[in-house]
Amino acid sequence: MKTSLRDLPLGVAGLLKTIEMKRGKVVTIDQTKLPHRYVKIRLEDCDEVCQAIREMRIRGAPLIGSAAGYGLALTAHRSKSKAVTAMIKELEHSAGMLMKTRPTAVNLRWAVQKIMGRVRLFNHVEDLRAFVLNEADRIRDEDIRSNIVIGKTGAALLKDGDSVLTHCNAGALATSGYGTALGVIRAAVEEGKRIKVIATETRPLLQGARLTAYELASERIPVKLITDSMVGHVIQQKLVDKVIVGADRILRTGHVANKIGTYTISLAAKAHGVPFYVAAPLSTFDFTGSLESIVIEHRKEEEVLCLAGKRIAPRSVGALNPAFDITPPENVTAIITEEGVLFPPYEVTLSKLAESTSSSGRMDTG
Ligand code: MRU
Repeated sequence: MKTSLRDLPLGVAGLLKTIEMKRGKVVTIDQTKLPHRYVKIRLEDCDEVCQAIREMRIRGAPLIGSAAGYGLALTAHRSKSKAVTAMIKELEHSAGMLMKTRPTAVNLRWAVQKIMGRVRLFNHVEDLRAFVLNEADRIRDEDIRSNIVIGKTGAALLKDGDSVLTHCNAGALATSGYGTALGVIRAAVEEGKRIKVIATETRPLLQGARLTAYELASERIPVKLITDSMVGHVIQQKLVDKVIVGADRILRTGHVANKIGTYTISLAAKAHGVPFYVAAPLSTFDFTGSLESIVIEHRKEEEVLCLAGKRIAPRSVGALNPAFDITPPENVTAIITEEGVLFPPYEVTLSKLAESTSSSGRMDTG
C-alpha cells in the first residue's frame, strides 16, 4: 500500500496509530522508506516482525515494545495447537526470537515479559489466544495514552518562542503514536506556543533528517536540520533554549541510554547551561538493571562507511558503529514521564517512582 508524501493530510504524524493488527496481519509503516515514500507493510508472522525490527523498518524503543506484543499476538493467532502447553511452547520460541532482535531498548523485554508472565494462567487455548491478542492491543493503546500525558506534562517546561533541539526520532513514528520528545513539542504547539525545532540529522541512519523532519514538516512545526557535528556550535551560539530527547533505557540511577550522540549533546548543553530533558514512558525504565547490564548495540560497519548506498571511505578502512550511548544523571536536568516530571537526585526520585509503580501494578510484568 503506497501513499505519496503529498497525499498525506497535514498533521497526520501526530495522529498516527503506527501499528495495528488487521485481518490477522500486523500493519505498520516501513520507516526505511520515509520521507520519500509512505509505505505500509503487512507482517504475517513473528519471524517477519523480528526481521522488520532488525532491519529498522520498525524502530524506536516504544514502537519496538508494541511490535513485540504483536509478534506474540501473531504467533497466538496462527497457532494450530490444541493444548495450552503446546501454544505456550510456541510463544516461548517467539519470545526468544524477539529478545534477540535488538538489545538496548528495554521496552521490548518489558512487553515480552508482560505477556509471557501471564500465559500460564490459562487452561484453554482460546482464552490464551484472546489474552495475547488483547494484551498486544493494550500495550499499544497504553503507549499512546502515556505519550499524550507525557506531552501535556512536558509542555509546561517549554515557553512561547523557545528553540528546542532534539536528536534522532522520538516522535509518533518511534512509538505507537504521538511520540515522547516530539510529543512534548507537539503538545506545546497545540497549546498555542510558538516552538522552533532544531533537529540533528543523526548519522548513520539519519532518523533526524528522514523521520523527525518529516513529522514536524507534516504539521508545519518550524524545523531546521543540522549535522550532528554542528551541535556544539549551535548551542554555544545560544540558538537552543532547551534540549529534549527520548530514551531507550533509563536506570534507577538516572543513567539514560539513547541514540548515539545524545551524550555529546548533553555535554554541550551542560557546558552552556541549557536544560537537557529526557521524555520517556515507564516501559523505558529498567529499575533493576545496572550500567554493566546495558548492552549497547553495535551495528554493521557499512552503515558508517556508506551514505545513501554509496561507499564514502577508502575500501581499506573499517568503522565503529555503536548505535547508542549513555548519558550520566548529572547531565540530565529532568525526566518527563506519564507519572510527572522527575528531578535529581534520581536515586531518590526514581526509587520512589519504582516503588509507587510496582505497588500500583503499573510496571507489572506478570
Ligand atoms: O535505533 P533507533 O532508531 O531505534 O533509535 C531510536 C532512539 O534512540 C530514540 O531516541 C528512542 O528509541 C526513543 S523513541 C521514543
